[in-house]
Amino acid sequence: MGFVKEDRTLVWGHRGASGYAPENTIQSFELAVKQGADGVELDVQLTKDGKIVVIHDEWVDRVSDGRGWVKDYTLAELKKMNFNRTHPEYKRAEIPTLEEVYELLAPTGLTVNVELKTGVFFYPGLVEKVMKATAKAQMEERVIYSSFNHYTCRYVHEKDPQALVGFLFGDGIYRAPDYVAELGGNAIHPMISNVQYPDFLADAARLDLPVNVWTTGQGESMLPLVMEMGVNAVITNYPDRMLKTAEEVAKGVKQNV
Ligand code: G3P
Ligand code: MG
Repeated sequence: MGFVKEDRTLVWGHRGASGYAPENTIQSFELAVKQGADGVELDVQLTKDGKIVVIHDEWVDRVSDGRGWVKDYTLAELKKMNFNRTHPEYKRAEIPTLEEVYELLAPTGLTVNVELKTGVFFYPGLVEKVMKATAKAQMEERVIYSSFNHYTCRYVHEKDPQALVGFLFGDGIYRAPDYVAELGGNAIHPMISNVQYPDFLADAARLDLPVNVWTTGQGESMLPLVMEMGVNAVITNYPDRMLKTAEEVAKGVKQNV
């Protein structure tokens, strides 16, 4: 299955199956695979020694037993920390490199949405390194890049016009589908609430832009509704639940939302 839906809305695990396992860890991605997700979303940053690590925040405090910026630690130092904090029922979880996640996912056929976290630090060289890792893992056809930093989105396309790039948004962007199409985006990755804006989905369809929505947890209850509205993919912390919902929506079972 590619990154454009066929029979039903695609389900991508947000930071893996992060509702159940420590986010952005091998355990979380393994679980997303086991639950049957069509893809996973993950976030990347650079270490002090220039390695690509999979972690959402620029700092380690929320998700590990360490303190401080990711960029101030070497990979070896980060590997000593325990990244189980969002799910302490897991005794130990390591921060993975992007290469380690690719190694796990390469045989599975899952789509990988690599979110380039260049909003706070620009991480010179991150895009080049990530694209090199993608090519080395022969994952080019299965990776879709995204970023809230649209300069980064454009830069990916400058480096490789064939790369798939989704433009990420929070809320409040006026006529976002037109904006993304103008910038040559391959998909639009809005926070779920964007679908309420006038003509949002119709404009995306007119412009042939797949809509891959994400939530911050609370929006999960709206996902069945946006599936009915025809979005391409949902990026969810609970791939198992949303796969079930996607099947039901495809079969036309009335959703209780
Ligand atoms: O890529 C979708 C989503 O992950 C964007 O928000 O903050 O969870 O990275 P965030
Ligand atoms: Mg993300």
